Amino acid sequence: MIFKPNPNKFKNATFNNMDEYNELCQKFLNNYEGTWSQIAKENLDWLSPYSKTLDSSNAPFYKWFIDGKINISNECIDRHLNTKANQKAIIFEADDGTSKTLTYKELHREVNKCSNMLVNEFNIKKGDRVILYMPMILESVISMLACTRIGAIHSVVFGGFSDIALRDRIIDAKAKLVITADGAYRKGKPYMLKPTVDSACENIKDIKICAVKRNNENISWDENKDYDYNKLIQTQSDKFDFVQMDSEDPLFILYTSGSTGKPKGVLHSGAGYILWAKMTMKWTFDLQPNDVYWCSADIGWITGHTYSVYGPLACGGTTIIYEGVPTYPNDSRCWEIIEKYKVNQFYTAPTLLRLLHKLNSKGALNHDVSSLRILGSVGEPIDTNSWLWYYESIGKKECSIVDTWWQTETGGHMITPLPNATPMKPTSACFPLPGIEAKILDTDGNECENNKKGLLCITKPWPSMIRTIYNDDKRFVSAYFGDATYQEKPVYFSGDGAYKDDDGYIFVTGRVDDVINVSGHRIGTAELETAIQNHHNVAEVAVVKKAHIIKGESIFSFVVLKADTDKNSLKSELNQIIKKEIGAFAVLEDLAISPGLPKTRSGKVMRRILRQIAGNEEVSGDISTLEDPSIVKKLQNVMND
Ligand code: PRX
Repeated sequence: MIFKPNPNKFKNATFNNMDEYNELCQKFLNNYEGTWSQIAKENLDWLSPYSKTLDSSNAPFYKWFIDGKINISNECIDRHLNTKANQKAIIFEADDGTSKTLTYKELHREVNKCSNMLVNEFNIKKGDRVILYMPMILESVISMLACTRIGAIHSVVFGGFSDIALRDRIIDAKAKLVITADGAYRKGKPYMLKPTVDSACENIKDIKICAVKRNNENISWDENKDYDYNKLIQTQSDKFDFVQMDSEDPLFILYTSGSTGKPKGVLHSGAGYILWAKMTMKWTFDLQPNDVYWCSADIGWITGHTYSVYGPLACGGTTIIYEGVPTYPNDSRCWEIIEKYKVNQFYTAPTLLRLLHKLNSKGALNHDVSSLRILGSVGEPIDTNSWLWYYESIGKKECSIVDTWWQTETGGHMITPLPNATPMKPTSACFPLPGIEAKILDTDGNECENNKKGLLCITKPWPSMIRTIYNDDKRFVSAYFGDATYQEKPVYFSGDGAYKDDDGYIFVTGRVDDVINVSGHRIGTAELETAIQNHHNVAEVAVVKKAHIIKGESIFSFVVLKADTDKNSLKSELNQIIKKEIGAFAVLEDLAISPGLPKTRSGKVMRRILRQIAGNEEVSGDISTLEDPSIVKKLQNVMND
């Protein structure tokens, strides 16, 4: 099945056929650094030029655009003021359906005031870390941009994380300030955030909390310790000269899960990140003047960073920030929003598409969604049914589907169709973007034959790549570049499996490491196991993924107990612990009380066997290395009980 883009939907796309795509790829092949340099010169506002495009002397700690000076809030705001001062920069759609907009001029003023507040009231300076634990409201974007204006490093923590998870991140980042809100609204009801922040900050020395009053609910407020954003902002000047930043100065930290218990603080730097956010926004979403663009991701995730905030604003676009959930007050809410604002590009995750498809959401029939041109998918593999439903029922067979493969660590899209060029194959992310060299390698580092599954790797550095794991250079090298395997020429390993078909289309099949992708959220099995171990009755635990019809993957836990107990009450106790340690989005779907775990003689749990048992599949592959092969039968019996 191949679907060609509909050229009637496109006027000034950058790529209008595969020849144009191939041409730019070839240009990169002929002159890699020179082509990046040309793009960087043409697209960014250099306050002072760079002297060298790429420094690989300390690989894999690559540096881009050496000595260049730049400011990201200038890229996103100031440089548009001459031509777009009165254009809408952000549309805020509240949970209750009311809306607010900020033009570029207004955004400029608000960000300046917030920058002044950060400096005057909190003494935030270049390089300081500021945690944002925020709902989807305008002040969240304003705070992110204010940090970049000063040169402070923001670290947005998704509002679904628990106090303990938030606390770990505050401590790891050695943050000076947490910006939050009293709470916000979801499904017509207020919910709270600040109490979680209060609990997370308990006994952390010198941390300050500044809260936006969004729902004005009655929450604890300590006049000596708490700062009221709305009050403080009123007295600030709306003028603030942005700080000139070095290309490689850190821009933000975003924590994500890996295969050990401790979350990784993925560090991105300014120039390379904003360049790729801008280029991919243009290329993948074909953002044109007057377009209205909506990405439904929360700003607590990388998609929210790059494609709700930085990409659209760097392009001078209009981006929608939505406070609520997609199914409130009914399952047509997304289509209502698209009709209301005449959205041209809609970007969401397969998990939502599966849900709306299952609910048989008819909204797209009852609402005028003809403004749509591009439909994006991100965060997990999309299945054929959902792809076709998106294409046919929402896009009316006229919109291009861009199945974008990328990660927190890559900063922006890496493999994706180009909307007016790439013939689409459902469930394939298609081809790497120009400038990106993606290969499917076997464990020895050799390229796999077509149709053979291997490890998805990026074999050349790119500007928006992760610079390091905050405070942990060693883990950065071992997690992504293999301890020693590729030291000659470092190759970035994504943690995903993939294969290429005979036409060169790339199909990403999911994580091959110990990371579970629940509704597009990355959760490390080690993080879950560490949390579950806190239960007094748990002797041993192993967590694996299981296919789930809506969530894509769900969490299945095998626990060995110290003493017998009731399974249902154990599950709810374990989920209470997970909610407390990580957050409600990471709860267990299934639980098996197990007589033991399948271990090798050296004591390593064979998760492959557990995954097969959890999925009710036949246990295949070698089990001869098990210390006690009879455990397989025993576990299967537990599943049949
Ligand atoms: O497994 C891949 C999956 O999401 C992982 C990255 O998660 P995160 O860093 O949270 O970023 C999510 C948003 C970019 C990847 O390692 N993933 C992301 N996009 C796709 C995908 N899997 C298949 N197809 C995609 N389009």
